[in-house]
Amino acid sequence: MSEKGRISDWIRYDYNHMMASVIGAEHGVTDEELAVMSGVVSSYHKEIEAERGAGRMGFMDLPYQTETVVRIEEYAEANARRYENFVVLGIGGSALGATAVHTALNHPFYNLLSRDERRAPRLFVVDNVDPVVFAKLLETIDPAKTLFNVITKSGKTAETVSQFLVVYDVIVRRLGLPAAEHIVATTEVQNDAGDNDLRTIVDREGLASFEVPTNVGGRFSVLSAVGLLPAAMTGIDVRRLLDGAACMDDRTRAGDLANNAAYAAAALQRVLDARGMSISVMMPYASQLRDVADWFRQLWAESLGKKSGIDGEIVHAGPTPVRALGVTDQHSQLQLYVEGPFDKIVTFIALDEFDEAVVMSPAFEELKHVGYLGGRTMNELIEAERLATQTVLADLGRPNATLWLPRLDAFSLGQLLYMLELQTAMAGKLLRVDPFNQPGVQEGKERTFALMGMEGHDALKKKMKNRKRPSARYVIA
Ligand code: PA5
Repeated sequence: MSEKGRISDWIRYDYNHMMASVIGAEHGVTDEELAVMSGVVSSYHKEIEAERGAGRMGFMDLPYQTETVVRIEEYAEANARRYENFVVLGIGGSALGATAVHTALNHPFYNLLSRDERRAPRLFVVDNVDPVVFAKLLETIDPAKTLFNVITKSGKTAETVSQFLVVYDVIVRRLGLPAAEHIVATTEVQNDAGDNDLRTIVDREGLASFEVPTNVGGRFSVLSAVGLLPAAMTGIDVRRLLDGAACMDDRTRAGDLANNAAYAAAALQRVLDARGMSISVMMPYASQLRDVADWFRQLWAESLGKKSGIDGEIVHAGPTPVRALGVTDQHSQLQLYVEGPFDKIVTFIALDEFDEAVVMSPAFEELKHVGYLGGRTMNELIEAERLATQTVLADLGRPNATLWLPRLDAFSLGQLLYMLELQTAMAGKLLRVDPFNQPGVQEGKERTFALMGMEGHDALKKKMKNRKRPSARYVIA
């Protein structure tokens, strides 16, 4: 098999319903606009390739990290059977990818399966500091039979550190168990300032650890140990996932928009965003892809939502990503998409084939609203609903595209994740913003540090204290 895999295993991007020739000139992209974008995209492609060569596009190297994969597989092989639970402690880019891969590829009711059926630990991803949920999790699982994977690239994110501290206390102080038997860390190597505190703890406590490459940001790290270790621990074929990503890398080496799904998606959305269609809806018609849309929402929002452009000019740029689920959200948000403002682009994700076929009973065939379904499958119904939604939108001049996966497996998912990351990198170029930083969330983090009493934050704490008090006038009890 070539590096690209078989064509029948490739995912496809169908953007017919984005084009003016299909949905009407008022809202669709014209061939002329596409031709202009094509030139722009190929020059940015050269920039991306140059930055990749200079090591600044770390996510593009992840499909080829052979040594890390061997270590992860060996670790999972040695440990998966030793624990009843595997709990990811992390937030944002250190949690969403693990959830997305798990939901997409594992059994939909994985944690409810028996140990024999799973042949791997149950998986929980915390992704918050809600005290009720955290306390109840620790009450529900047996911490003595649990391996906790604390994931934080920086080693200092307050939420993750707080989750870790609670767990450390339970394991070491309350149960008297060795931390190294119950905690494995995923973090960056120690930096020059020596302020990756998780790395310091790893060394002090002798914890096993995996690295987050320095040139890979949290939201681009799903294909690093951040996403791969939880995946391998639950029996997912991580090599196949990376093979899929490598296949997409291979297929997107061409800078020409007509042959590059990632660039086409970025360019089409950019043209429409500039015309006021700034809401980008991702709507998979497969429940197992719901969390991929959630992962993408962070990727698109945190990468593209920026106050300053790369030259320092104020731009306040960034399309708004929305997660929807077919068919569930046909009964929730679709009314807005069909009749509301012309500010949305919908990207459907569809499967050529589902792993199961569910047939409906022919009972009550004489009843008009029941009988027609008899003998048909849910597979036919979900596809009919997707097609119905897509064509309604298209006929009303509402731009939409479809990403087709041949089936939901590790190879397709690897292609999809890599494609969406590359699409985001190109979207950053087209918007002229840096997709790899997140200055907007820093001030909130600093204020949290100040409020929680971190050293060196006294001035900010004072400033927070002296803020004008909210007026009772505007509070209704
Ligand atoms: O994408 C990002 O950079 C962020 O969402 C981070 O993943 C998130 O803030 C957690 O950071 P860290 O992994 O350093 O704890």
